[in-house]
Amino acid sequence: MGVKKRIVLFASGRGSNFCALADAIQKKQLPNAEIIALVCNRKDAPALLEASSRNIATHVINSKDYRTDKGFDRDSYEAKLLETSLGLKPDLILLAGYMLVLGRKMVEAFPRKIINIHPSLLPKFRGLHAQRQALESGDSMTGCTVHWVTEGLDEGETILQAQCPILPGDTVETLSQRLLPLEHKTYIEAVIKVLKELK
Ligand code: GAR
Repeated sequence: MGVKKRIVLFASGRGSNFCALADAIQKKQLPNAEIIALVCNRKDAPALLEASSRNIATHVINSKDYRTDKGFDRDSYEAKLLETSLGLKPDLILLAGYMLVLGRKMVEAFPRKIINIHPSLLPKFRGLHAQRQALESGDSMTGCTVHWVTEGLDEGETILQAQCPILPGDTVETLSQRLLPLEHKTYIEAVIKVLKELK
């Protein structure tokens, strides 16, 4: 079996992808992995409560505390995020609804160790409100993408994609609801795939 791979999750909000991954690990669906911590950039993120109820350590680096007269002090925020992340010695960092773009220092410190999920068939509909963008496009299919993280917004090589239909009468809510279980399943499958390839 060897030493378990150390997984750290980053989230900003609800945390349903975090829960799906944590529960899959709990049920031993992911080979040889353990969740070391959840890192949140919001102190009120519901994901934090989900982590606590699963006895998973949490770290809050409140991005609001890094707001200055001149705007968001991204460098100081990232420095703290980097210090925290290095201390956790992760084999993989999984972004699960983490809504800030990672800067160069983070990406360079963890080459091919950071993974994200995005609710569209990338390269379509990057950034915020991917489901709304999909609805407004008139496309009949959308989906989700699990991909390696680079400095670019929702860029980086795809690990796994899954498709889901857009139905007549869909709203952002109904489409997001249909997509979410597919996100959970695809994220788990993608991490299993990556873990198998990790030396
Ligand atoms: C998910 O739909 C995830 O794909 C999306 O945020 C939601 C988080 O939900 N992520 C992005 O849009 C990243 N660009 P969750 O907190 O319940 O996992």
